[in-house]
Amino acid sequence: MNLTFTEEQEMMRKMVRDFAEKEITPFIKNMEKGEFPRGILRKMGELGLMGIPVPEEYGGAAMDFTSYIIAIHELSKVSAAVGVILSVHTSVCTNPILYFGTEEQKQKYVPKLASGVYLGAFCLTEPSSGSDAASLKTRAVKKGDHYVLNGSKVFITNGGEADVYIVFATTDPSLGTKGIAAFIVEKGTPGFIVGKDEKKMGLHGSRTVQLTFEDMHVPAENMLGKEGEGFRIAMANLDVGRIGIATQALGIAEASLEAATAYAKERHQFGKPIAAQQGIAFKLADMATSVEAAKLLVYRAADLRSKGLKCTQEASMAKLFTTRTAVEAATEAIQVFGGYGYTEHYPVERYFRDAKVTEIYEGTSEIQRIVISKHL
Ligand code: CAA
Repeated sequence: MNLTFTEEQEMMRKMVRDFAEKEITPFIKNMEKGEFPRGILRKMGELGLMGIPVPEEYGGAAMDFTSYIIAIHELSKVSAAVGVILSVHTSVCTNPILYFGTEEQKQKYVPKLASGVYLGAFCLTEPSSGSDAASLKTRAVKKGDHYVLNGSKVFITNGGEADVYIVFATTDPSLGTKGIAAFIVEKGTPGFIVGKDEKKMGLHGSRTVQLTFEDMHVPAENMLGKEGEGFRIAMANLDVGRIGIATQALGIAEASLEAATAYAKERHQFGKPIAAQQGIAFKLADMATSVEAAKLLVYRAADLRSKGLKCTQEASMAKLFTTRTAVEAATEAIQVFGGYGYTEHYPVERYFRDAKVTEIYEGTSEIQRIVISKHL
């Protein structure tokens, strides 16, 4: 693995870092109050950030997967909410259409997704099927040239805001994973109902909603792949998605380390900076080591994906380790800040609230261990 970045990748890092500091930092307060960053996403679209790994012929920036990961990394250091919006949009909405869609589907949806005209979402989880994704109950019944979908989905990131949804439903529950199909669904399809907006512990700038489908008629031509291929499509795209979430967690962990280090150098107690007290210095050393290890796992998985190689195990390892690192680093950062860290005057309490969900969505840490152990 090449551990250095190309000139092009470094340019991407600098561009996104500058963008995040200039455009996103001033908007954090609004997002913390629940405002969705529409304007930021529009500007990201103008800069090509909504379609980084998408080929030019479909309106993308035609850069490699690692460049896309660099963008999520830099965005998430400033706002984990913007990080997850981009990750879900690209990894598990645009990507499945690009890899499993027909030429007509790609022409119809990908250029609009890649330019940010459309926002994407992914609908797998249901009220009674989370980790056991194959037990989903949403039914799809073929009627003429349409499928009629009935069911409900929960915890849908970008839900309600997104224009295009990859929806998983079963055409034959007796077939288990082999009975699942994937559909491209447009917001506004009759029977597509946006439900409750979840009040979350963190990620306040990202929208998470329930969706209900009531006799929702989806044209048969909007099926992604064939009947029975949906579960494999979901799993294959979660490999990619999990690298994105691992990267989001890496951004939170690194931001926690940087904030704690800066504060420890300026805060004096017992006549010297607390960074010079061994108790704090060792804490920072452990945080820095974990962040570095997390970075290597993330960029290793991204490198495999960039080269078109299988990365299921590496993606799960990156997600498992990095998300734990984010929770630990944010917790330790608050400890370094002491009482101030527990207040809204500093960003570390936000990092702490944003970090936890990374151990839950796109497969809990326990699911990542199942995936990893299956490969051993
Ligand atoms: N790539 C391609 N195919 C895969 C695959 C992969 N990574 N993983 C499994 N498959 C295939 C298998 O080969 C198998 O096919 P065959 O029967 O032809 O061999 C089929 O899929 C079924 O696989 P399993 O038997 O392993 O399926 P399972 O029912 O035991 O489930 C699981 C496996 C890993 C536990 C899976 O259910 C899982 O990942 N659960 C977690 C769900 C999840 O991550 N949800 C996230 C929701 S999205 C989200 O959170 C987005 C957001 O808001 C941020």
